[in-house]
Amino acid sequence: MANSITSSIILLSLITLTSLPSNQAYIRTISKESIGIKDGQQTQLTFYYHDTLSGSNPTSVQIAKVSGSNNSPSTFGSLSMIDDPLTETADSSSKLIGRAQGMYAMADQNEFATIMIMNILILDGDFNGSTLSVLGRNIVNAPGVQELPVIGGTGGFRFAKGYAQAKTQTYDKKTGDSVVEYNVFVTHSSSSTPGSDDSPSDDGGSPGSPSKNGSSSPRASSHASLSNFVSLSFLLIPLLYLCIV
Ligand SMILES: *[C@@H]1O[C@H](CO)[C@@H](O)[C@H](O)[C@H]1NC(C)=O
Ligand SMILES: *[C@@H]1O[C@H](CO)[C@@H](O)[C@H](O)[C@H]1NC(C)=O
Repeated sequence: MANSITSSIILLSLITLTSLPSNQAYIRTISKESIGIKDGQQTQLTFYYHDTLSGSNPTSVQIAKVSGSNNSPSTFGSLSMIDDPLTETADSSSKLIGRAQGMYAMADQNEFATIMIMNILILDGDFNGSTLSVLGRNIVNAPGVQELPVIGGTGGFRFAKGYAQAKTQTYDKKTGDSVVEYNVFVTHSSSSTPGSDDSPSDDGGSPGSPSKNGSSSPRASSHASLSNFVSLSFLLIPLLYLCIV
């Protein structure tokens, strides 16, 4: 018995030493530090969203609807595309801080509830060029606060998660034009080099930085051989046992 254990150990050591290259070379375990980011930053943003359907330059346009949509009390089945300005105050001529770009569709057969899919593109300050992605349910002209999930982000908002609270300030029943106050709360990662990493054009560069910095490569390969070792051991231990018995 002692003999068989010894031979198993020797064989397993040999397997570890001659471990095959990983067949998953496209997957690497890295640290967040290696891509220059650190976790846990909390940010709140407040801005005013101007959804304009009327006039010669609408920022919200209907792009599709089903034939029965006009008969529905909630215009269920209509879809609009938006490129709405986001400003610092409720006054549309106040400072532009970003744009809400995306779509909303009437997704409820009874009330004016939409599914909103939009990217909040920041065009000012520290987060200039960064985006937050919002996807959720929003009732048009609801009296209270509507809450939508923030499901991700780019640039200074990488790894973002949070929520957006929307409160209608004004709503014109005739035109459908509205101004909505947004309060967005997000937890995200901050970049250690905000100047370069926040620029969208630099996004392609980040996956390359681990190789620029040798630190993550040895980790990656030791991880690969460890997983090879573990998977081979599972396969070979029962085989060895069968041979010896
Ligand atoms: C935001 O970034 C763009 C592109 O880099 C630049 O052209 C623009 O001047 C910046 N805006 C502000 C307000 O910093
Ligand atoms: C690369 O590693 C060195 C130290 O090993 C560190 O000083 C440097 O900031 C790292 N660079 C990046 C881009 O992570």
